[in-house]
Amino acid sequence: MTNTTTIPTSLNFRDDCLEILNQQKLPHEIEYLKLSSLNEFYDAIVTLKVRGAPAIGITAAYGLAMTMNQHQTENLSEFILEFRQVKEYLYSSRPTAVNLGWALDSLEKAIEKAKSVNEAKTTLLHTAIQLHTEDEVICRQIGEYGLELLKDKSTIMTICNAGSIATSKYGTALAPFHLGSEKGKNFDVYACETRPVLQGSRLTTWELLQSGVNVTLIADSMAAHTIKEKKVEAVIVGADRIAANGDTANKIGTSMLAILCQFHTIPFYVAAPSSTFDLKLPSGTSIPIEERAPEELTEINGVRIAPQGTQVYNPAFDVTANELISGIITEKGVIYPSYEENIGRMISGG
Ligand code: MRU
Repeated sequence: MTNTTTIPTSLNFRDDCLEILNQQKLPHEIEYLKLSSLNEFYDAIVTLKVRGAPAIGITAAYGLAMTMNQHQTENLSEFILEFRQVKEYLYSSRPTAVNLGWALDSLEKAIEKAKSVNEAKTTLLHTAIQLHTEDEVICRQIGEYGLELLKDKSTIMTICNAGSIATSKYGTALAPFHLGSEKGKNFDVYACETRPVLQGSRLTTWELLQSGVNVTLIADSMAAHTIKEKKVEAVIVGADRIAANGDTANKIGTSMLAILCQFHTIPFYVAAPSSTFDLKLPSGTSIPIEERAPEELTEINGVRIAPQGTQVYNPAFDVTANELISGIITEKGVIYPSYEENIGRMISGG
């Protein structure tokens, strides 16, 4: 039998642009957008046309590299000054995912020793391409480690979309399911719809259906009932920023699932590359949490559903306390408690 399944990807580098799959239009429309100007890159990140921590890091890196390649000067100091301004602008697009700043810093480090503008321009583009290609290898490795933890034919819950389209390929939390499909292992995945932006119902279902994974959609409020009634055996989620003690910021609703896992004594796993760790932060209390526009809650598809004048609180992420996390699956292996010690050893080699 021929395998007709595919693992979708969302980022394609072309010589004159970065082509992205517009995630705002999914699943109804497959629209590719060509990004080449700084404002196009910035807008795509802010408006969630591209989203997911690794994918926004890669996109921002291309945005910085391509913008600087268009900059006309032979003067290296002037080039570096402009580079820092463009970098700051892209950095301000979204605050929570540390991968964004990490990718931009990687570009800055890469041109530290450049001797000419031409050399800096070439290095920037090569570094962005390298981050893009390395991310696929990293995600595949996360998937391999994840597969060792998750039993074949088990029932697993996830939230948001930490999938192939949120990375270069494979994803983080969804990588074991994609790899499982390739290797003939099967999972029953319950995808939380992920209010208010619906990354679960629009993106995770779309992505897993394409790679032949058995996925069932639930509303976020059905998680407790589903874990009990459908005998969910583990929850796996992605991450936007992990502090030195293991506290983890991820899509709003994640910490609620971790608390449920503790109550039901099932494992709660975080899957993330080492670029998602922010070892400068001792704990999750100082992770910046993005608050998004009230319309994400007061409207559905542009139609007002809440009364005019309703006050809205719309944090896009929450922080899961380290003691609720059973293990953090990275490309370097699975990190278990005690996190302070083991994160230092595995991520920074300290
Ligand atoms: O607001 P989003 O859609 O960018 O949020 C994405 C998440 O919370 C993901 O779980 C996280 O970035 C990991 S993606 C591999």
